[in-house]
Amino acid sequence: MSFAFRHFPAVHDDLRADVLAGLAASPKAIPPKYFYDEAGCRLFESICAQPEYALSRTEHALMREHLDAIAGAIGKVDCIVEPGAGDCAKVRRLVDVLTPAHLVCLDIAGAPLAAAAEALARDYPRLAVTALGMDFVHDLEAAAPHLPPGKRLVYYPGSSIGNFPPDAATALLARFRRLAGPASQLLIGFDLRKDPLLLHAAYNDAAGVTAAFNLNLLERINRELDADFDASAFRHYAFYNPAAGRIEMHLVSLAEQTVTVAGQCFDFYRGETLLTEYSYKFVPREFDALAQDAGWQPQAAWERDGFAVHLYA
Ligand code: AVI
Repeated sequence: MSFAFRHFPAVHDDLRADVLAGLAASPKAIPPKYFYDEAGCRLFESICAQPEYALSRTEHALMREHLDAIAGAIGKVDCIVEPGAGDCAKVRRLVDVLTPAHLVCLDIAGAPLAAAAEALARDYPRLAVTALGMDFVHDLEAAAPHLPPGKRLVYYPGSSIGNFPPDAATALLARFRRLAGPASQLLIGFDLRKDPLLLHAAYNDAAGVTAAFNLNLLERINRELDADFDASAFRHYAFYNPAAGRIEMHLVSLAEQTVTVAGQCFDFYRGETLLTEYSYKFVPREFDALAQDAGWQPQAAWERDGFAVHLYA
């Protein structure tokens, strides 16, 4: 078995700086990457099991249905690189069919990544696994020295790209390309535009798990930044904006209130919103245009029940 873990400590205090800047902005906003503390990761797993949230199940079914065709279109690769690998579950089926020599997985949650990647390395003794605990959105380029030479496949499933506004999505895909090199490929999964009522339900599940996920952001800020948010004084509010092609997730203040975070005070008026997430939904040809702007050329595409997986080179 071959396994290596490297932790890249954030050089700046991201959470503190981003939360303070986001609360001082107008309108107020906090980047969605801060959803994923330990409680947030558990809640996200639970969202994926809700009947209304079909995204992850559909991608899984699509990959199962088309795995051979996908492997055939990719061909031989030496290394799979997965930004945001999390529990390394999704990449296993690709490792099974592509049998690369190397897997490099990146995730901001270093400890769970290391555990998952080490377990994977144990299950695949001929695969060299490198786990990089890093905020790849900030520090992607620091992964370069850890990539072995040869043909690389960047795997970015789960419609995570939809959580970036279009300009930032293009910039991130361009950085994937620079990192992986000109002979590389990108296999990416993204959610498609569909009946707005289905989308609305997916982010307003009856069990209230998405609401708890959204409100956990305030609990996390309380825990980690010595803040005094009263989560019961905020309402989870998510809706589909068809003109922009995105779900918008907000926390709306139910009262006029003042919150202290890391020693600084922030006023909310009744009804004021704190934007926590955009989740863009795409039209396939528009996504191709976005990828092309980032330097990727379309190679193949698969679709199932409102979800798409595209391969670019
Ligand atoms: C991780 N990401 C693709 C999810 C999404 O659907 O945008 C995050 C999420 N937010 C609320 N529910 C799920």
